[in-house]
Amino acid sequence: MKNNYRLFFAMLISLTLIVSCQPSKTNKDLTIIPVPESVSVSNKTLDINKDTRIIYEDPNPALRLMGEQLAGFISEKSNFRPEVAPYSSVQSLENDIYLTINLNDSTFGKEGYQIHHSDGQLLTIQANDAQGVFYGMQTLYQLFPTAFFEAADKHSAWEIPLVTISDKARFAYRGMHLDVSRHFFSVDFIKQYIDLLAMYKYNTFHWHLTEDQGWRIEIKAYPKLTEIGGWRKETKIGHQWETPKQFDGQRYGGFYTQDEVREIVDYAASKYITVIPEIEMPGHAMAALAAYPELGCTGGPYAVQGEWGVFDDIYCSRESTFIFLENVLTEVMEMFPSTYIHIGGDEAPKTRWKACPDCQKRIREEGLEDEAQLQSYFISRISKFLEKHERQIIGWDEILEGGLAPGATVMSWRGTEGGIAAAQMGHDVIMTPNSHCYYDHYQGNPSEEPLAIGGFTPLSQVYDFEPIPTALNSTEAKHIIGAQANVWTEYITDNDEVTYMILPRMVALSEVLWSPAKNRNWENFYNRLPAHFARYDALGLHYSQSVNQVKTKLVVTETADTLVELTAEVPQAQIFYTLDGSVPDQNSSLYTEKLKLNKTDQLKVQLFRNGQAFGEGQAPVIK
Ligand code: ACM
Ligand code: ZN
Repeated sequence: MKNNYRLFFAMLISLTLIVSCQPSKTNKDLTIIPVPESVSVSNKTLDINKDTRIIYEDPNPALRLMGEQLAGFISEKSNFRPEVAPYSSVQSLENDIYLTINLNDSTFGKEGYQIHHSDGQLLTIQANDAQGVFYGMQTLYQLFPTAFFEAADKHSAWEIPLVTISDKARFAYRGMHLDVSRHFFSVDFIKQYIDLLAMYKYNTFHWHLTEDQGWRIEIKAYPKLTEIGGWRKETKIGHQWETPKQFDGQRYGGFYTQDEVREIVDYAASKYITVIPEIEMPGHAMAALAAYPELGCTGGPYAVQGEWGVFDDIYCSRESTFIFLENVLTEVMEMFPSTYIHIGGDEAPKTRWKACPDCQKRIREEGLEDEAQLQSYFISRISKFLEKHERQIIGWDEILEGGLAPGATVMSWRGTEGGIAAAQMGHDVIMTPNSHCYYDHYQGNPSEEPLAIGGFTPLSQVYDFEPIPTALNSTEAKHIIGAQANVWTEYITDNDEVTYMILPRMVALSEVLWSPAKNRNWENFYNRLPAHFARYDALGLHYSQSVNQVKTKLVVTETADTLVELTAEVPQAQIFYTLDGSVPDQNSSLYTEKLKLNKTDQLKVQLFRNGQAFGEGQAPVIK
């Protein structure tokens, strides 16, 4: 007994020491992404236990739903479920979380929010609109400790830091795209994708629904679009440029019914995400032509494609094509309330139009100069049709060629030049330059990554992206309404590969899009990532840690020597290397400049951070 007392007091003393030695919390302990506009953390915590209530301003069904969702989230890891109650039913606010839209400060718009707290441990999320409260909730979820996400058992209490936050979006358009045509993804996965967007305060999902390799949306007036256009005979194995060409011999396809589309649009809306459909024209139309060959210049026959690239057969500019497209778009508008409809416009070779009597007749009759102007006529006609229905087009930057349709918004993908030109003409622009925003590109050494289309867009480069080009003056810059990342799926075949390619690159982009530019700091961002990785682990999501690789590049000098350049994205890290194949340690050579290797050299590298070997030891394949 006596011994037990002694043990008890010893434990008490050491516990007290631990508690009193704990440094006070600083903003550095927070791992919120995107980083808020302003934040300060107190030394106090909000204890979430069986007495915690979630109070919402009533009557407001959206706030009630958010309250219920938070209660459900907490109850998954707790042996209680917080009560969710309308403000009008409670006497006073105490150890509570309070959701309200009584901010009354127009500078926060619909999307901004504040979080504040009283000494009585009341945490309030306050905005002008439910959408702002929703973003405040996303921040709140990120205040839960990693232990919460990792917990295998149910706890009786959780602590989150009490914070004061004032936050709003830098850009109005914050988008992620997904190509479901090259590879098809289930309704459940699309919802999971939307969940990730919401978690990082994106507000737009650009759904790329039609392509040469598959038409993926049910159109009641044209059933063959999905019966025939939704399926390809087989798919090319390996990279497009690998020869001899080999195909897998497997019929592949799928499509979304109109009910499923509505389900996804509604689901996204419940998370304040607008879904913008993309119906490609006049190019990338082989699946539609395979279904209705009369829509092409030659009349076919055409096949849904099983390999990747740009195809000469595009929609003919005959009148019947416009009737078809207007009928398709009429059904699309019934499914999608979005003001914007994306009409593609990229990569449309003019080979067929040049040889087509009908297209040439159209050029003559409309007084057009050439096929570039015919494309402009094509897009402008569709734009006018959509405008009659109070919709607006977005097109890839090729829609600038031959003249931009009035009112068109440009998605600048072949760099930022198209976006700069459009903004200077007074058109709105969404920046998606392939240098920073193409997540089908490699994010690490190709020899250590799954097969990708090419390119190299590592995490730090995504984080460095500045959507407003310096070439624009302040009036023109207002036309840059935001940016988006594109996820083309030629080489991304399943759910795990999608999440691997977007996590954490979409996380880095969220900070570019949401946070004030002055708050961005690569080292600080990098240090916040592990907490997010822990969440993905708990959710069973595949993600990439390629940021921790030593990146290898061959550089040819003016004297035709080939040198090896090593770089680390990891902040405050050093690269040590050996050339004899042994595992490098801190007594090995420190990398300071490009290396000239002999044939017999076996390069091995290792990152060190804070004196510790970091990341997996890499042995980049150098060819
Ligand atoms: C595109 O990447 N073709 C828009
Ligand atoms: Zn034609």
